[in-house]
Amino acid sequence: MRQRLIVGNWKMNLLQAEALAFVDELESAGAVSGDGVEVVICPPYTALAALGGRGLRSITLGAQNCHARQKGAFTGEISAEMLTDAGCRYVILGHSERRRDQHETDVEIGNKANHALHSGLRPIICLGEQLEERQSGRTHEVINRQIDGIIGSAGAQVMSQAVVAYEPVWAIGTGLAATAEQAQEVHSSIREHLIKHGVSGTVPLLYGGSVTGGNAADLFACADIDGALVGGASLKAPEFAVIVQHARDVR
Ligand code: PGA
Repeated sequence: MRQRLIVGNWKMNLLQAEALAFVDELESAGAVSGDGVEVVICPPYTALAALGGRGLRSITLGAQNCHARQKGAFTGEISAEMLTDAGCRYVILGHSERRRDQHETDVEIGNKANHALHSGLRPIICLGEQLEERQSGRTHEVINRQIDGIIGSAGAQVMSQAVVAYEPVWAIGTGLAATAEQAQEVHSSIREHLIKHGVSGTVPLLYGGSVTGGNAADLFACADIDGALVGGASLKAPEFAVIVQHARDVR
């Protein structure tokens, strides 16, 4: 059986005191791990240090990026070891905002995944096509190319221990989520392509892009969707709790 996960990506939001108060709210709303679903939140680094110090019971901590090297002269960067030391167990890699703003490539993402895993962090590797790529019928070609590039540098063994998030770029922060059919179609093709590379068929595949309390149940009912990577709705405790509950309801 594949693992199920709900991951909250806070992006560049919440100061330390706000983050501490918000986690209390998440816990009282029931947005916590249970019934075979692991709840992970990925705060900005400053809040992450505060939350790691507090010690969370039923929410796992993750980061939003890490460097591919252990330490050294890399101003402004953070290593996987530092994140593990701060209490993280997961790290999001290759988010489309970083591919866009920091020009991250698939090879770099693969290198980071390799290093993260060897430092005790499980990578959550993001894939996704742009709107014009979907409109011109190139979704599968683009996603397969991303997978090939990442596996080319990380190897199938690392990929087998990662989590993969399919996040169509046109669906992120737009309110225009992929339909369950669109998401399932890409998820099953991702799984097939990973298996062709010798990657385990049990890698959890998350959907991300405008997931809400309203569309989560339909998405989680799909055969190849094992959870969600949630941006905006992870900053609303009651709604995030509804998403978590829908994931728990899947049997
Ligand atoms: P969204 O973001 O849920 O706000 O669309 C998802 C993400 O960027 O991971």
